[in-house]
Amino acid sequence: MVRKQATKVAGKHEVRTLALLAQKGGAGKSTLALHLAVLAQQEGLRTLLVDLDPQRSTAAWWRARTAETPELVETDPDSLAAVLDAARADGVQLVVVDTRPSAERDAVTVARLASLSLIPTRPSILDLRAIGATAELVRETRRPGGIVLNACPPGRGGMDASIVSEARSGLRDYGLPVVPVAIHQRADLAHALIDGRAVSEFAPTGKATRELRQLWRWAKENMA
Ligand SMILES: Nc1ncnc2c1ncn2[C@@H]1O[C@H](COP(=O)(O)OP(=O)(O)O)[C@@H](O)[C@H]1O
Ligand SMILES: [Mg+2]
Repeated sequence: MVRKQATKVAGKHEVRTLALLAQKGGAGKSTLALHLAVLAQQEGLRTLLVDLDPQRSTAAWWRARTAETPELVETDPDSLAAVLDAARADGVQLVVVDTRPSAERDAVTVARLASLSLIPTRPSILDLRAIGATAELVRETRRPGGIVLNACPPGRGGMDASIVSEARSGLRDYGLPVVPVAIHQRADLAHALIDGRAVSEFAPTGKATRELRQLWRWAKENMA
């Protein structure tokens, strides 16, 4: 009897999908994907990272890792729906999808399957201009989306640097919410890529971890 119930619950199991999308390379898709995946896993969610970028930087990070979680799959956008079905059947609770720099068909495919698409951007004007196409394609899917300012210079006295506050006001025209927390430029975040760990593992009380946690909380609240 109990076992039957358990099977039924498992059958209803939902998997949520968080995608990192940006037309520009270097915006922070891989960095944020792997850090958010580790945070979710640390909270006890069974998490799968999916690397859709042929450059495979997330997969390289994962191979440098000794921990076995989060799990990782390397595939291509056309196989994502099948991977999500398999993940759901297998009891995965969160899938974090890292993508190649693109605002084309494969980005649309991913955004349509995502519970939330996060678009990272650096705060400079050229970077901001480059996210217009990605923001538009996410809006067109009518699925939840958000823009996250990444690699921001430090502010002073608890205030954002002026480039960050200017970016925030410029981003009001993009038709997607901007995540309240800005992720700052921190060596720990870059170091994590070589290290095979995430900053929440080697500096769990540091500022980078605190910002990532705020981003993760926002993502949880905004996933469909
Ligand atoms: N907040 C940050 N602080 C420090 N370095 C960062 C930050 N975000 C990204 N980087 C660095 O910038 C480079 C590009 O980031 P990456 O996540 O690979 O971008 P993408 O996947 O969008 O191409 C990497 O070397 C990464 O370590
Ligand atoms: Mg990348």
